[in-house]
Amino acid sequence: MKINSSEFIISAVSPKQYPTDGLPEIALAGRSNVGKSSLINTLLNRKNLARTSQRPGKTQTLNYYKINDAFYFVDVPGYGYAKVSKKEKEAWGTMLDTYFQANQPLKAIVQLVDLRHPPSKEDIYMHDYLIHYGHPTITVATKADKISKNKQEKYKRVIAKDLRLTSDDPFILFSSFNGQGKDTLWKTIQYYMKN
Ligand code: GTP
Ligand code: MG
Repeated sequence: MKINSSEFIISAVSPKQYPTDGLPEIALAGRSNVGKSSLINTLLNRKNLARTSQRPGKTQTLNYYKINDAFYFVDVPGYGYAKVSKKEKEAWGTMLDTYFQANQPLKAIVQLVDLRHPPSKEDIYMHDYLIHYGHPTITVATKADKISKNKQEKYKRVIAKDLRLTSDDPFILFSSFNGQGKDTLWKTIQYYMKN
C-alpha cells in the first residue's frame, strides 16, 4: 500500500463529531496497551502519528486518521484497563455502542490481541460483541516479535480456538517492531474496503 498522506483529523466522543464525508472507515479495537496505536503508525510508516505509551489507557477517545484522502483509521480506546472507574467504563461502553451501531461507512474492525497470551475474558466478549453488530472482523495477534518463529503457530492456535475462529476468518500475526504481517494486513484491509 502506498501512503501519500496521513493526518490526524479529530478525537471524537459523540456522533456530532464523526466525519461526514462518508469515506470508508477501518476501526482498531483491543485491550489497553495491546499495541493499537503502534499498529497504526507501523501501517502508515509514521513514528508518532498515533500517540503510543507504556502506560495503558493512553487513547481515551475515538481518534480519526485520514489516509490518502480516501479512508479513515479509527483508533478505539482500549478496554480492560483496571484503573478506570465504573462511571468511566460505562461512558466508554456507551461511546462504543453508539459508534458500532451508527456507523455506515465502517467496513471492518481490526481486533488486536497479544500473541503471547490466551485471549482474556474481555477479548472474547469484544469479539462476540463485534460479531453481534455484524461487522467483519480481522483478528490480529500482535507483539509476535516476542515469540520465536517456530512457536508462533502453537500460540496462534490457542487464540483461534478461544475466539472460536474458523479457517475462513482472517487472522494475522503482526509485529510493530519488525513489520511481520504488515503486507498481509494491508491486503486484507484493502479487500474489506472494497466490499
Ligand atoms: P491504549 O492507547 O492505552 O489503548 O494502548 P495501545 O493499544 O494503543 O498500545 P500502544 O500502541 O500505545 O503500545 C503499548 C506498548 O506496547 C508500547 O510500549 C509499545 O512500544 C508496545 N508495543 C506495541 N506494539 C508492539 C509490538 O509489535 N511488539 C512489541 N514488542 N511491543 C509492542
Ligand atoms: Mg493507543
